[in-house]
Amino acid sequence: MNSPPFAALILAAGKGTRMRSDLPKVLHKLAHRPMIGHVLAAVAPLHPARTVVVVGPGMEDVSSAVAPAETVVQAQQRGTADAVMAAREKLAGFAGDVLVLYGDTPLVTTGTLAALLAERRKAPAAAAVVVGMRLAEPGAYGRLILGRDGTLEAIREAADCSKEERAIDLCNAGLMALDGAHLFPLLAGIGTANAKGEYYLTDLIAAARKRGLPCRALEAPVAELMGVNSRAELAAAEAAMQRRLRQAAMDAGVTLTAPETVHFSADTKIGRDSVVGPFVVFGPGVSIGEGVDIPAFCHISGASVSDGAVIGPFARLRPGAELAAGVHIGNFVEVKNSRLAAGVKANHLAYIGDANIGADTNVGAGTITCNYDGIEKFRTEIGKGVFVGTNVSLVAPVAVGDGAIIAAGSVITGDVPADALAIARGRQVVKPERAELWRKGRRAAKAAKKTGKN
Ligand code: UD1
Ligand code: CA
Repeated sequence: MNSPPFAALILAAGKGTRMRSDLPKVLHKLAHRPMIGHVLAAVAPLHPARTVVVVGPGMEDVSSAVAPAETVVQAQQRGTADAVMAAREKLAGFAGDVLVLYGDTPLVTTGTLAALLAERRKAPAAAAVVVGMRLAEPGAYGRLILGRDGTLEAIREAADCSKEERAIDLCNAGLMALDGAHLFPLLAGIGTANAKGEYYLTDLIAAARKRGLPCRALEAPVAELMGVNSRAELAAAEAAMQRRLRQAAMDAGVTLTAPETVHFSADTKIGRDSVVGPFVVFGPGVSIGEGVDIPAFCHISGASVSDGAVIGPFARLRPGAELAAGVHIGNFVEVKNSRLAAGVKANHLAYIGDANIGADTNVGAGTITCNYDGIEKFRTEIGKGVFVGTNVSLVAPVAVGDGAIIAAGSVITGDVPADALAIARGRQVVKPERAELWRKGRRAAKAAKKTGKN
């Protein structure tokens, strides 16, 4: 695509008071990615020549979250026009279009942004194209005032609307594509004579029209334009994002037997012909291969799973879990920071942490790698084709050679050579008839106590 260069300017200096949070609003997450990260991800495929994020004072954590995008600090929040003005020096000498986005409008798609830029350039080239949405209850949104020819004449903030204007259902979503050549000269003329006493970016439209510059509105789906101002709106946006991620997974050939119960991260990768059962949660950094079976109630984060593996039901994969092809992880098994080679099976009730396990090894029920001594973590190395019996504790650091067998109930504190059998438990003692003798003794003692009381 050989389109002219544009700069993405993302406004994120607002305090987000209604979130009631110590965290800047745009760092609150949807599908485990900060809202502003979704906005950046939507614009990235259009290859902006510059990306500048306007933040408030003390929002260093936003700056690091958006890197390598540049940030500029708006010293005081004096309105959306002032926020754009804050980027003036950063954009000095940049001649292309400026695409203004909001950090708290995270559901916007690449397609809508591409359409917005294309509309800006359509002849006669507009000084500004504003994204509009139709709302049954336009409430506090700015209203788009169209001329008789359907082009945009002005945006009126709700607080400044006449009764007739308030009835307009075409609202300003906030996103705009602006001709960089006109932007800053037009902004310079904007004042604060309005209900809020702020510098309104929306006043740019009337200013452009005054100079005879055309402006237009572009209608886009409301579902993409929802702004997040409160925790309840964050939850609603999360629900919308999850619906989108589920649909994308299904479109890519993944079966979700109960899609509405599966929770994805924005970066979840999952291969075709994998089947995900009900109530499975994917945390960040998960990559799942093809044909993987994930029955119900699994929690998976930071893990990579190769083709044909079976995970769960009721399994937990934590960061650094690397499962090769055909691994079977069963119920109540937790795997962390461990590599399991092809064909490893751990089918019931186990904790595998900081371990390497060789191909085709069987890990019995109740096996625990004791990886932590209260001070430091240690690794457990298990070879190929090992049989670890049930209820084995492997006290790391410890190594078990290929083909070894570990007897059930063992506490393994020393290395086990290849093909050896290790038994590390008390020897069984059997005392014939001793149980019945013991019971007799106990009954006699109980009877003696009763007699004493009478
Ligand atoms: C703005 C629009 C309104 C539109 C609505 C859509 C103006 C004057 N009004 O109103 O027409 O319907 O968005 O949601 O533009 N920000 C800064 N610095 C500031 C002020 C705001 O960075 O000084 C940022 C905020 O962080 C936010 C965005 O700009 O991301 C919008 O600001 P907000 O105060 O929420 O604008 P609205 O009053 O909702
Ligand atoms: Ca807002």
